[in-house]
This record gives sequence, C-alpha cells and structure tokens, in this order.
Amino acid sequence: MSDESTTIRPARGKLGVLLPGMGAVATTFVAGVEAIRRGKADPIGSLTQMGTIRLGKRTENRVPRIRDFVPLADIEDLVFGGWDIFEDSMYDAAMNAGVLSKDLLNEHKEFLASITPMAAVFDKRYVKKLDGTNVKGGANWMEKAEALMEDIKRFKESNGCDRLVMVWTASTEVFLEPKPCHQSVKALEEAMRANSPEIAPSMVYAYAALMSGVPFANGAPNLTVDIPAIHELARERRLPTAGKDFKTGQTLMKTVLAPMFKARLLGVSGWFSTNILGNRDGEVLDDPASFKTKEESKLSVLESILQPDKYPNLYADMYHKVRINYYPPRGDNKEGWDNIDIFGWLGYPMQIKVDFLCRDSILAAPIVLDLALFMDLAHRSGMRDTQEWLSFYFKSPMHAEGLYPEHDLFIQLMKLKNTLRHMKGEELITHLGNEYYD
Ligand SMILES: NC(=O)c1ccc[n+]([C@@H]2O[C@H](COP(=O)([O-])OP(=O)(O)OC[C@H]3O[C@@H](n4cnc5c(N)ncnc54)[C@H](O)[C@@H]3O)[C@@H](O)[C@H]2O)c1
Repeated sequence: MSDESTTIRPARGKLGVLLPGMGAVATTFVAGVEAIRRGKADPIGSLTQMGTIRLGKRTENRVPRIRDFVPLADIEDLVFGGWDIFEDSMYDAAMNAGVLSKDLLNEHKEFLASITPMAAVFDKRYVKKLDGTNVKGGANWMEKAEALMEDIKRFKESNGCDRLVMVWTASTEVFLEPKPCHQSVKALEEAMRANSPEIAPSMVYAYAALMSGVPFANGAPNLTVDIPAIHELARERRLPTAGKDFKTGQTLMKTVLAPMFKARLLGVSGWFSTNILGNRDGEVLDDPASFKTKEESKLSVLESILQPDKYPNLYADMYHKVRINYYPPRGDNKEGWDNIDIFGWLGYPMQIKVDFLCRDSILAAPIVLDLALFMDLAHRSGMRDTQEWLSFYFKSPMHAEGLYPEHDLFIQLMKLKNTLRHMKGEELITHLGNEYYD
C-alpha cells in the first residue's frame, strides 16, 4: 500500500440522479434500482454492485467488492428526476417502452408514477422524428439554461439531496461538428444568448449542469460535452464529465472480438454489422441525420483497435459497414448480426457469424447506475473534466487532445480498476508477475 491515496469526501446524504430523457433506458434503470432496493432482483450487469477488485499480490487473497473498497453512494440513497418532451410519468413511459413486464412495473407503480418529467429544452431540428408538448419556452438558449438551473436547484432542495449527477438518456441528436462557437465558454455563452442554431439542446443541459455544480455523463453519441467550451467549464468548476454513447450490444462484442484478432495477428477483410430494432430510439435513428451521429460512433471502434496503419497487410483493406434498421415488431429487443470475414496462415479465409438477440435497455440500465455512482465518486475525489477511466462504458470514449481512444474492453477495465486502486493508495496491478518466480 502506498501513502498516495486521494482524499475522498464521504458519500453522506442523498444523491439525486437527473436524467434528461425519460424513455426506455431511463425507466428501465429507475424501475430496476427500485426492484433491487426492495430485494426483488439482483443488480446483474453492474460493476459497482457486483464487481470485485484484486488488491496486492495474487498470494494475498485480498479481493473486496468494489463497493466495499471505494466509498460509493448507497443505492438506498438515490433519488431520481428528469426531463422529457412527453408528459408521461416514469410508470407510463416504462409501460409504453415495453421493456419490463407489466407485473414488475405494477409492483412499483406508486413509486414510478411519482416521478414526472420537468419541461424539456428541445429543438425539433435536432431530433426530427419527435414532437412533444412538455417543452420550455424562453427567448433564447441562455434563458432555457437558466430555467434548467432553477429546476436543478428546486429538485435538490425539495428532495433534500446532498449531491447531484446528470446522465443524458435522451434521444440521439443530429450530427454536429465542433464550430467556432464551441471553442470557449465565452463563445458558447454568446451563441446561447444569440439563440444560435449551432447550439444543441444537449449542450444546454450540460451547461446548466456544470453551472449548478453537477457532473455530466453523456449516454448518446451527441457532441454535447466533447467541445472545448465544456472542457474549459469543467476544469474551471472542478467537475467531472464523461462520454459518449453507452457501449451495450454490438459494439460491446466488437471491442472484445477485434482485440482478439489483433492479438493473434488474424487478418480481417470485412465486417458487416446490421441491426433491427423497433423502439423509439430505433425510430429516431431512422432519420439519416441522427443515424450519422450513431454511425460515426460505431464505425470508429474497429479502425482504432485494429490500427491498419501499423498492420497494413492484415487490416488496411477491411470493408466495414454498420446498418441500423427500424423494425417495429421487435420493440426494445434488438437483433444485431455481424458477419466477419477473417483470414489466417497463408491467407486462408474463414468466417465468423454473431447473432446477438439482445435487449437494449436491459444492457444499458446497469451502465447508467455505474456511471451515476462513479461520476459522484470522481466529483468527491476532486477529479475534473474528461473521466477517461470510464471509457469502459462508452462506444466513443472521450479523451484528451493528441491521444487516441482506448476501445479494448479489457484494457478499459484494467484502467478503471487501476484508477480505483490509485485513489485508495493501493499498488497498481501490471500483471508482470515476475516476483512469483524470483
Ligand atoms: N439502449 C441502449 O443500448 C443504448 C446504447 C447506447 C446509447 N443509447 C442512447 O441512449 C439514449 C436513450 O435511449 P432510449 O432507448 O431510452 O430512447 P427512448 O427514445 O426510449 O428515450 C429517449 C427519450 O428522450 C426524450 N427526449 C428527446 N429529446 C429530449 C430533450 N431535448 N430533452 C428531454 N428529453 C428528450 C424522448 O422524448 C424520449 O422519451 C438514446 O440516445 C440512445 O441512442 C442507448
């Protein structure tokens, strides 16, 4: 054990989890936490609740649960709130989403019905497929941000929260590239006052969160917090940010399989990925502009893991295609197919087919829980700006300028656990292991 542990403020009192977007993912997360708190289910898929961490040498046999090792908020202390363009309570929204059984939702009806959405900051130009009435007025983006800050303050006071975190669980916005107005806080604020079309609603939430002292994690592939203006604000206000795009189904598979191909020097000539899904997310992604945001997020993964510039004979000619098809009959139960054409010794071809019949929101819900708890931990530990150690949870992990993102799931996990060891002054684990043979 080293004496370089970080000072971590204790997790006292209630932690409010604020969710812009109370759709399938958000309601599956909240209903799930309530079911777990009432002892009806286990927190399956959640590293903070079920994961362990090895400390010291393999001979020491010190393997505490992560939640016994670092001071995380207790799930009993979580309270939930959020915004949506539809007026449905969490109960109605969860019923509509059709992810969880009616029986389970009815068991927690009173609790879920008590969580109703605050009026959203919305602009149809950014999510073309949706129209809702529960939307804030205001002369410009800045006025809307101020209204969000009021909501945040009121929520914190009326729920007696000690701290808050915000996790974006709203729809994917249209593709946006960084513009001059995203380059500094001053430029961003001017553009917000001028009601510029280059400001996305998600940026207004992120701005309001940081101005209110609230960490922000982005579950969608939107640009949102990945702009210099927000990095500047997060550094100035000593607040953590993280993103982007929850890594759940097909990309989770890719970030496990692709590192294996590279580790064994197997070539890839083609990777065709297609999805069918029928939830509201699928409907939003049926718009080409929203799909482009998702596509960029999904495509970058292989390129970055396989490094075709370093291994041109194995990966330079790879054909990579990702498709998402809106297919209503499947609802939230997505099917993700991958056809992978690989080649081995002397160039002989082989094929791998993956057919993942997954459940989108069931995979995303534990990620929301872990991010809420780890972002709060980071905040109490004085960590600010991009939390790269949380790359484990994202399809397009945010990273400092000049770095490439780390996509390999197991490197991401090692990075996450080493960050926790570092926080607590434990030795980092390198897996060198020479000492066992001295
Ligand atoms: N489920 C997964 O596996 C997964 C994985 C990665 C990313 N995501 C992303 O998570 C997000 C949520 O997914 P979902 O399946 O819950 O979608 P959903 O359509 O069920 O829910 C999104 C909700 O956001 C609301 N909304 C849209 N714009 C808003 C705004 N400006 N303010 C407030 N609310 C707004 C919509 O009305 C909707 O209720 C999507 O962006 C999706 O791409 C999901």
